[in-house]
Amino acid sequence: MKKRRIAVVHGPNLNMLGKREVGIYGRLTLDELNSSIKTEAAAAGADVEFFQSNGEGEIIDYIHGIGHLDGMIINPGAYTHTSIALRDAIAAVKIPAVEVHLSNIHSREEFRRQSMIAPVCVGQISGFGPYSYIAGLLGLLDFLKGASGAK
Ligand code: DQA
Repeated sequence: MKKRRIAVVHGPNLNMLGKREVGIYGRLTLDELNSSIKTEAAAAGADVEFFQSNGEGEIIDYIHGIGHLDGMIINPGAYTHTSIALRDAIAAVKIPAVEVHLSNIHSREEFRRQSMIAPVCVGQISGFGPYSYIAGLLGLLDFLKGASGAK
């Protein structure tokens, strides 16, 4: 079967992983996280491309350019809770998206419980640390099998 091509999008402040609120987000850096995602993707027969930005508009521009890929994993960071523009960009490109979070957004402050993004995603995975990305990737690849009738 054709290799799936998946974008992994990290939103604001995720470049600070390993230094930022380590009690919540852990000590793994973004480079280390990306390399573990890449390893898991290769084992599952998929190619991944990574993007991180702290700017809402930059993330939106990037998403507009990935309509030719098979899907995306996205951790929108704090834009999860605020960005209708990001939600509209995901809806516009029509490729399936999975929303992921390192922390459990439902067990933290009230304002983190709402996601603008989840309604335009296949699903949301939250609270498993770096494994949220892996679970999201495997879930997305399984979803794509179903979408192509290969399951
Ligand atoms: C986060 C959760 C968000 O609420 C927060 O703003 C982040 C990280 C997570 O991965 O747990 O920046 O998306």
